[in-house]
Amino acid sequence: MIKKFSSRRDFFGAALSLAAAPAALADAPRRDAPPLKSLTNAPMGCSTNLVALKDPAYAALLLRNFSQVTPEYEMKMNPITHTDGRLNFTLADNFMGFARQNRLRVHATTLVWYKHQPPYFMGLDGKGQVFADAYRNYLLTVVGRYRGQVVGWDVVNEPVWTDGTRLRDSLWSSNLGAEDYMMLAFEYAKQADPNAVLFINEFDLERLPRKRATFLNLVERLLKRGAKIDGIGTQSHVNINLPQGASTLTMRDLAALGLKIHVSELDVSLGRADRDNRSMDDKLKLQSAKAWEVVDAFMNLPASQRYALTMWGLMDKNTWLRQLPGREHDEPLAFYDDGQPKPMFWAMADRLKTR
Ligand code: G3I
Repeated sequence: MIKKFSSRRDFFGAALSLAAAPAALADAPRRDAPPLKSLTNAPMGCSTNLVALKDPAYAALLLRNFSQVTPEYEMKMNPITHTDGRLNFTLADNFMGFARQNRLRVHATTLVWYKHQPPYFMGLDGKGQVFADAYRNYLLTVVGRYRGQVVGWDVVNEPVWTDGTRLRDSLWSSNLGAEDYMMLAFEYAKQADPNAVLFINEFDLERLPRKRATFLNLVERLLKRGAKIDGIGTQSHVNINLPQGASTLTMRDLAALGLKIHVSELDVSLGRADRDNRSMDDKLKLQSAKAWEVVDAFMNLPASQRYALTMWGLMDKNTWLRQLPGREHDEPLAFYDDGQPKPMFWAMADRLKTR
């Protein structure tokens, strides 16, 4: 049972004292941290991958806390598409097998993304109908293979330019049209799996109001043209310096379209350690407050719009952020590397519990 606190300050102070010395906690009997998935009827998700799942302790912690998974890599275009155009589903099938064995919902990512432009498709660049046919075949085949097995798909990922000023240029836009590649992707996905919830997914919607506006204008145009968009994914790769209220404001703007909302890739970066001399305690407090706000904004949505809340990684050591310069020691997730819950875990649990 989580103790009720008189104020958020008291709560974050108490949570921090609990988790301030992970080494000591690692020796202490594991606190009975409530499984996150047990605190709400909104699906709690986590990204994972087949390499990480080889560790039984990792798998156990994931299964204890989450009812939904997102493949971090296995169902994307690069690992599926051979240079000769043949499609290889080994990794994707293995991932789906894990999910099936453990009765997990799967949100699949991603069908069309500017960062995955496999050599096969690059080789068809400028080849008109041949390119268009290969694109259609890919989408129908991939979505059709997992028809009825996945809850939803990120159909189009990160369509807006990084600074939010315009749409991205990509192999897809240059061959099929700036927005037509998106219209086609949603059409084929809906055709291949009519019951999958289809998303358009973007990052930095909290940090860049200009990008949020460009993104929402795009979604409205696509909807007006009849695009089969069921939901919006806000990746929520946020950081401890994000202004308070930014997540709340963003969720309000996104929810206005009435579509389902997926907090699709939540992590809360502590930023570059070499440029911030605040104490770890202070950073973890800020991290808890940011995580609390994201969960609060999500839980304040109408239940019909709450698709899922997905963490982008389980333990800090799993984070993609450590691939970035200056982030080698970032700690953006809810669990320490020994599996102990962090202050942000307790902040999220506290908000989830209050419904
Ligand atoms: O494991 C394979 C290896 O067998 C293979 O030989 C090698 C060839 O490059 O790839 C290895 O896989 C790596 C994979 O992560 C492992 O999970 C890929 O190289 C590497 O590119 C891949 O990075 C992922 C990245 O997306 C690109 O797909 C990150 O883990 C993943 O966290 C990141 O996630 C993205 C979201 O999809 C979209 N939003 C941003 C987010 C962070 O970039």
